[in-house]
Amino acid sequence: MRASRFMILLYASLVGVPILLYLRIISTFYGMYLVSTVLLALASLGLIVFGVIGFAEVYIHKRHVAEEVAMPLRMQIGRQVQERTGSGTKMIDIVVNRFDNENKAMRNEVYKVEADKNTTVLSALLDIRSKQDPTLAVRYSCRMGICGSCGMVINGKPSLACETNVFDKMADHEITVEPMYGHPLLKDLVTDFDDFFERHMSVDPGLYRHDKREKYGAKEPFKLSREDIDKFLPYSYCIMCGLCLDACPVVNSNPEFIGPQALSQVYRYHADKADQKGVKRLLEVDTLDGVWGCEFAGACSKVCPKGVDPAGAIQLLKGELMKDMAKKEEG
Ligand code: SF4
Ligand code: FES
Repeated sequence: MRASRFMILLYASLVGVPILLYLRIISTFYGMYLVSTVLLALASLGLIVFGVIGFAEVYIHKRHVAEEVAMPLRMQIGRQVQERTGSGTKMIDIVVNRFDNENKAMRNEVYKVEADKNTTVLSALLDIRSKQDPTLAVRYSCRMGICGSCGMVINGKPSLACETNVFDKMADHEITVEPMYGHPLLKDLVTDFDDFFERHMSVDPGLYRHDKREKYGAKEPFKLSREDIDKFLPYSYCIMCGLCLDACPVVNSNPEFIGPQALSQVYRYHADKADQKGVKRLLEVDTLDGVWGCEFAGACSKVCPKGVDPAGAIQLLKGELMKDMAKKEEG
């Protein structure tokens, strides 16, 4: 529309300006200088008006075209962002296995939850608690796999609820959530960790130094090389979530077995050059309920959300004990 108006102006100028100039020449020829000057002024004015309006028309037209191109592009980008951020939602069933106080038995309760690509099992449970059932007990704190509070059994596997995406676990639009098996039940999905912490504390999980006052005024810093640090660092990532204990078939059949988490911490401090407890630390777990109780099922390492590999740590402890035994026999 704007382009055709521009064309009309162009044609009018192309015809009008030469006519004005031609008339101006004629009037000069006949000595009509005033008329000639007026005609020249009109021709110049026509050229200026054409220039300004034409430029403005082209500029506006260009912007209009740019808008027409940009709009669908913007809509397409918007759709892509929407897809990536997962605003598409789905209704899913969360089946919570919880204790029924009246019948004194476990029962399944099914909740419908609207989930998108970013929904974790923990966020789904919190959604249930805030909108459908405030009595549902869930323990959590950080919501980012750091505090180790939200451990539960999700579709049969001990997992952190805050690190489990619902769609990764979906089978027939249903997710089953149970309290951990290896810890006494307190309420719904919350279990008692007293026994777990006692096991942990029983192995003296901390650096042992002969000089007890050293920590209040060390004469010089204790230096560790990168290699020294790498020996114990993977085992220091434990967040004490208790999932390994829950998955361990030995703990579940022999409660006296100290368990993978505590044993992995024995190795963590034994492998630390700064620790001075030496072989004493090893001998404390040189028992059938200690390292020798492990049957190397490996389930603990498979479920560990921090890649601690307690099963590997226990085998390394066994190796250290055997080295010590060999040394003693030689001596
Ligand atoms: S070793 Fe892994 S699974 Fe076991 S308590 Fe530590 S972080 Fe959790
Ligand atoms: S809430 Fe902290 S680890 Fe899940």
